Amino acid sequence: MKILGIETSCDECAAAVVEDGEKVLSNVVATQIPFHAPYNGVVPEIASRKHTEWIYETARRALDEAGIGAKDVGAVAVTNRPGLLGSLIVGLSFAKAFAWARGVPLVAVDHMKAHLYASQLRKEGAPAVPAEYPFLGLLVSGGHTIICRADGFDDITVLGATIDDAVGEAFDKVAKHYGLGYPGGAAIDRLARDGDSSAFRFPMPSLHKGDHRYDVSYSGLKNAAINQLETFRMRKDAQATSQDIAASFQKTAVDILLRALLNAADDTGLSTVVAGGGVAANSRLRETLAARPNLRAVFPPPEFCGDNGAMIAGIARHYLARGDTSPLSVTASARVEGFKKRYP
Ligand code: KG4
Ligand code: ZN
Repeated sequence: MKILGIETSCDECAAAVVEDGEKVLSNVVATQIPFHAPYNGVVPEIASRKHTEWIYETARRALDEAGIGAKDVGAVAVTNRPGLLGSLIVGLSFAKAFAWARGVPLVAVDHMKAHLYASQLRKEGAPAVPAEYPFLGLLVSGGHTIICRADGFDDITVLGATIDDAVGEAFDKVAKHYGLGYPGGAAIDRLARDGDSSAFRFPMPSLHKGDHRYDVSYSGLKNAAINQLETFRMRKDAQATSQDIAASFQKTAVDILLRALLNAADDTGLSTVVAGGGVAANSRLRETLAARPNLRAVFPPPEFCGDNGAMIAGIARHYLARGDTSPLSVTASARVEGFKKRYP
């Protein structure tokens, strides 16, 4: 079955067609980056207006590039949580209209579960390397940093999370402070390639005991990267190049994730780690995890790491298979309880 997937949770207007839950026939991501760049961050009002302008054309392109017409779509999948409410509503309303007009099922999807599913997608001709459940999930994006245990596509237990900022948010804020580029994560990743990661030492959070063994924190690193380097620069006792700042910050950001992840791997005995979310595109994270002995790291191809419609269409196949569809009255929600860590 061919499923049309719609994703408008933030600043990407995205639509894709996926066959049988894994074969990606098209994946169109219309990015709004140039419209938000002057503000160094996503402006929710601009995001929802652009989605309203672009959603029809984006879905049209997804069908065209897949070489199919609206009549060939067997179901419509759409992100309805979590995200910017005004943006979610645009994609959700479009998907409802499509489902109603074509008389096909609607499947509303949790965007975070879809990020974890993204590694199972494959492009035409590429072999699938699906990880077998159970595995450890590493969900790293602009709004979330979660270490979880996945026992099925929809059966996820949160083991650890950030106690303050998300890792992607820390990349974005540090990049914004030093004017390194927008969006920050990809800009820091690029600069770091030519930098010395031992140029500056940043603190690791002291979260490695008891209830916090799998938790992470990024506000300390973010503030240190911002304040400590300002002091260095004012005293002129260090040559802080953008490349060195980027490389040193990125090294610590990855080390923080790694420590919590290795604790979770040790304690659960799970040795497969499946990553998802925008930060899963980070080259240092990918290289560091791939080089770990005794760990099998599975990453989606970079184009399926950030927000996209393919992961939404892909996971929806599994909901449909067990008869889960959504009513046309289904609503959007900015946050999801299921991805909060519960402390004893
Ligand atoms: O999953 P995503 O596209 O949107 C959210 O749901 O948040 O993730 C966006 C986040 C941003 O914080 C962005 O800076 C970060 O992913 N990001 C990266 C890289 N590419 C995107 N962070 C580090 N390295 C990258 N290469
Ligand atoms: Zn996302």
